[in-house]
Amino acid sequence: MGLHSDTITIRGGRPLTGRIELKGAKNLVTKAMVASLLGETPSILKDVPDISDVRVVRGLLEVHGVKISDGEEEGELHLDPSAVETAHMADIDAHAGSSRIPILFCGPLLHRLGEAFIPDLGGCRIGDRPIDFHLDVLRTFGAVVEKLPSGIRMSAPGGLKGAKIELPYPSVGATEQVLLTAVRAAGITELRGSAIEPEIMDLINILQKMGAVISVDTDRVIRIEGVPELKGYDHRALFDRNEAASWAAAALATEGDIFVGGARQSEMLTFLNVYRKVGGGFDIHEDGIRFFHPGKPLNPVIIETDVHPGFMTDWQQPLVVALTKAEGVSIVHETVYENRFGFVDALVEMGATIQIHRECLGGQACRFGQRNFNHSAVISGPSKLHGADIVVPDLRGGFSHLIAALSAEGTSRVSNVGIISRGYEKFLSKLETLGADFTLEG
Ligand code: EPZ
Repeated sequence: MGLHSDTITIRGGRPLTGRIELKGAKNLVTKAMVASLLGETPSILKDVPDISDVRVVRGLLEVHGVKISDGEEEGELHLDPSAVETAHMADIDAHAGSSRIPILFCGPLLHRLGEAFIPDLGGCRIGDRPIDFHLDVLRTFGAVVEKLPSGIRMSAPGGLKGAKIELPYPSVGATEQVLLTAVRAAGITELRGSAIEPEIMDLINILQKMGAVISVDTDRVIRIEGVPELKGYDHRALFDRNEAASWAAAALATEGDIFVGGARQSEMLTFLNVYRKVGGGFDIHEDGIRFFHPGKPLNPVIIETDVHPGFMTDWQQPLVVALTKAEGVSIVHETVYENRFGFVDALVEMGATIQIHRECLGGQACRFGQRNFNHSAVISGPSKLHGADIVVPDLRGGFSHLIAALSAEGTSRVSNVGIISRGYEKFLSKLETLGADFTLEG
């Protein structure tokens, strides 16, 4: 992961100012890499960030026989799937770590090899994160799913066939599962209740470049006409809007001014509206967005996370840190994951006033309301945060801890920061560029 130590000491209270550059979105790039398995010829992917989730997928593709090399430009990958082969469960396990990506290998591998294995799946500790939608979808296409002690084995004795599918919830991963499977399944697939995040639209762009026939109708309906063969693609990945939102929140929390190169307005409309309501300043440029603290008190807001085009769940954690500085009571109702407020304990330890409730607050009742999940946060500000010893719990929560420590008075010791490199490229050198005062332990 490029860090010698997993612990950093941060001396807070300095505004983050300067310019950083984004690369492609983690949540698109990893899926685009999997899509290369579907092509008969090599693919080229540009703007691939140097993050550990990409390294995990690279390792998984390599154990399946995909030859991967770096291209001329920084962040360019060449993926050659001409020798795809079945991998050993032990190798898959060794490479997958805690990633949930292996589940997306199933459709492509069933098409290429007629079988697929996946290990037990992890990901961030932000709720149960089951894979039931994925398995149901694959069965609908005709896959036979066997649960073994070592993982899950799938086969497709009669081939995969297009189907009518309705998702119980617009899951990002399950929508991608349908896309990656339906493009080469026999006949037409109609998916209702699909997720329509910009990263999914960019995956559709890639699949179309490969030869797929996909239409996106209104009301979350996607239609895919299966084709017998696909070729490789050449694609520059969509920018990482979650990283952009994270740095935007960092600018607010530290009273700074950050130009996020590569960020674009249209994929961030919802975020920008909330940012403006909180009182954050932004200027939209052709090559990025400048985010800055306005120099006057911030306003409290009431937000509800949701699937696109709603306010993304991944934007919530860094923004909560900025909301501890707003004058008044803010409410965040998390409706995508049942357990995504674990990170606030550390903020409270640092002096924030945040209460977590089981009830659906500030918005409509969601599917977690009557089920004892602590999924609404009430943040009362403004609070002066002070340094503390913190252990990073997950990717987005971890980034929010970094911002909290950077905005706090005094010194913080933040451990387990390696998790942050799953999704934030070179975050320590970016912090250095922005003038943060920190040292790596060891
Ligand atoms: C993707 O996760 C992202 N990860 C997440 O980003 C993001 O938070 C999430 O989409 C929502 O936008 C990647 O793209 C790698 P989901 P995914 O399926 O696809 C439930 C980050 O920090 N569900 O849309 O796994 C699930 O438990 C990460 O970058 C089932 O019940 O999310 C959740 O409550 C974290 N059964 C909801 O659906 C299933 O089979 C949405 O999950 C699948 C999901």
